Amino acid sequence: MSVIAIDGPAASGKSSVSRRLAKRLGFAYVNSGSMYRAVTWEVLRQGVDTTSPADVAGALSGSDIACGIGDGGDSFIRINGRIPDEALRDSRVNLHVSLVAAVPAVRDLVSARLRALAENRDVVMEGRDIGSAVFPETPFKFYLDASPEIRRRRRAAEGQSDEIEARDKMDSSRKSAPLMVAGGAVVIDTSHLALDGVVDAVLDILRPLGITPR
Ligand code: CDP
Ligand code: CDP
Repeated sequence: MSVIAIDGPAASGKSSVSRRLAKRLGFAYVNSGSMYRAVTWEVLRQGVDTTSPADVAGALSGSDIACGIGDGGDSFIRINGRIPDEALRDSRVNLHVSLVAAVPAVRDLVSARLRALAENRDVVMEGRDIGSAVFPETPFKFYLDASPEIRRRRRAAEGQSDEIEARDKMDSSRKSAPLMVAGGAVVIDTSHLALDGVVDAVLDILRPLGITPR
């Protein structure tokens, strides 16, 4: 099955572009960031100290985690019976997610679930390490970027309290599967592109590789 990997820093346009791209192609859409956010939400709910990798790993080893693709074609994660969608963008989650995502046991768990989702279906999957670590063998890799100022403005326009620079710094400097441009990835600067412009640019690259809209 085909995996289209879309990586990049916060507010580079990954979610908006990936969702539109998946609809155009008829692929499932997998948001790996929401899985790291859901895990973070659960860890916080249990009152665990997110600076302790051992405590974070311990909290998750006792959790029941299920991932799947919903009827609309989007991924979901259910954790101890709950789908915490509304809580995923909480400022507390924004603040702690990069710490939790740096824990190797968390990355192993989420990466295994992501690979399982792509076992029997075509997917557009967005994140930080999809092209570099989760599906390094896929020939379809993109890295979206935009200037820090524009990304900050985009997040602020969404009304979110989100220190994206601090998050990007932590995500890029962690030991386990850091944010990076994967080997072979096409880098697209979205600073001055509308969303459909980015989707069209991606489709223009995919078409000669045999991936065409329905
Ligand atoms: O939407 P935004 O780009 O702000 O963030 P996200 O994609 O929801 O990801 C939230 C956080 O999850 C990131 O800052 C990373 O710490 C972590 N993440 C990761 O480590 N690896 C991924 N493949 C996806 C997200
Ligand atoms: O998933 P990620 O954090 O990379 O970005 P996003 O949530 O898709 O985009 C963040 C915000 O920037 C959204 O409100 C998008 O509509 C907006 N955006 C934009 O206006 N133009 C782009 N080329 C990319 C994103």
